[in-house]
Amino acid sequence: NSKRRLIIVAYRLPFKIVNENGQSELRQNSGGLVSAVLSLVGKQKESFFDEDEKIQWIGFSDNSREELEGQSLANESFQAHPVFIPDEINENYYEGFCNNLIWPLCHYFPSLARFDDAYYYAYETANRIFFDKLAQVIRPGDVVWVQDYQLMLLPEMIRAKYPDNQIGFFFHIPFPSYELFRLLPVKWRKALIDGILGADVVGFHTNDYVEYFLKAAKLVSGFGNRLHYINMGSRIIKVDSFPISIDFEKFNSAFDHPGVAQARINARNSLAEKIIFSVDRLDYSKGIRHRLSGFTRFLDQHQEWHGRVSLVMVVVPSRDMIEQYQNMKMEIDQTVGWINSYYGNISWQPVIYQYRSMSYTELVGMYTTSDVALITPIRDGMNLVAKEYVASRKDSNGVLILSEMAGAAAELGEALIINPLDVQDISDAILTAFQMPQEEQIKRMKAMRERIKAYDVFAWTNDFFTQMNMLELEHERLK
Ligand code: UDP
Ligand code: G6P
Repeated sequence: NSKRRLIIVAYRLPFKIVNENGQSELRQNSGGLVSAVLSLVGKQKESFFDEDEKIQWIGFSDNSREELEGQSLANESFQAHPVFIPDEINENYYEGFCNNLIWPLCHYFPSLARFDDAYYYAYETANRIFFDKLAQVIRPGDVVWVQDYQLMLLPEMIRAKYPDNQIGFFFHIPFPSYELFRLLPVKWRKALIDGILGADVVGFHTNDYVEYFLKAAKLVSGFGNRLHYINMGSRIIKVDSFPISIDFEKFNSAFDHPGVAQARINARNSLAEKIIFSVDRLDYSKGIRHRLSGFTRFLDQHQEWHGRVSLVMVVVPSRDMIEQYQNMKMEIDQTVGWINSYYGNISWQPVIYQYRSMSYTELVGMYTTSDVALITPIRDGMNLVAKEYVASRKDSNGVLILSEMAGAAAELGEALIINPLDVQDISDAILTAFQMPQEEQIKRMKAMRERIKAYDVFAWTNDFFTQMNMLELEHERLK
């Protein structure tokens, strides 16, 4: 079994070029997909792929052709292939079908879902544009790994033209229960399921998402399964759960970096006795408003903590041309302003709110300083921030408060698990965290750290490609 080249196809390239104050710099795009998949570049531990070949990454470019002119799109282990999508298509594709329809449905916000034929037309057209770029790159024997809900039609397009290449598909967001999925018009439902079934291995974060997908595949396209194998006649597909993870060692070892240690000192010196930290993209699925309500409830019920707690809340700008996101930004601004004006005083600001992205050093600085990480998504495919917090705590201190609606809750049972809609639950968990004896913090943190260490992002890919290779052997046996 000779080693191959890996082609990743994702909506976004991992980096964009930003120009600030006359300086141009390369900045990593935000979100869990980019963080996880990018950590493989140059560092695949158990390599299924030819080490002399670079990882090829096909993705939409935030920069125009002109901006990319003269820029290097490769390093020793990585080659980027930018995809350009005309604005009028991208609007109906990315803002429309992807983020005004699929995202809210999969995150159980059906009332936010918008339906428009132009969205679907653009989705198909954009998937075809990605396919055309792939066609320029692909070689016999290449393994293609298609990522996420923006590219559900692509596996089938690849299968039709390149039947002998191995194709993987990974879905990074929750696959919803059938009662949600069936809200899609019949023709779209079927196209999406059949599109995904062009892959050999189809991966989700949790067993629940796998079960929901298998049920949809059966009801929509008539394909039953046996122990997660779908027999399509000419080939077999494996559908399974592969909980995405992080580069544990990278976060663990960052604890001792001088920059991180300095960030810790700065934070300790400028913040209150207890520090609560949260960081997420601006998104209604992240439960930011309920988090603020939970914190407000805590302040109402526990006067003794006034002046002694700082909630550091970093909100990373995301999808800011979409109306729902703009509205949410205004609500958060107002709520934070209200909390600080109502409870705060000249020497104490309860919420330190920042609307920007963070550097890695700042991020780990905050992870390792905070007494509590408060992660309250209403729905989240996995939530890597929770895992990063745990991995960063080399000192095994700190308390993780985590929503039961995050995929990560399935692996992080020692966290204080809360219902993100239950404001009292959040308030109680904050108090429990503040009062938790250090031995108990350490015991819980150690158990979670062991688990993330054992199943890091390299184990995630290892599992995925082991399944791909087993399936290929099976196909050869059946020939
Ligand atoms: N992150 C980021 N920019 C920041 C702060 C954090 O890209 O300014 C990273 C964070 O380290 C994590 C990812 O964004 O790896 C968020 O992943 P998660 O799965 O929690 O949520 P998603 O954004 O994918 O919904
Ligand atoms: C989540 C999705 C990714 C997406 C990311 C950032 O992690 O699973 O597919 O790229 O959010 O969102 P954006 O819309 O900026 O790409």
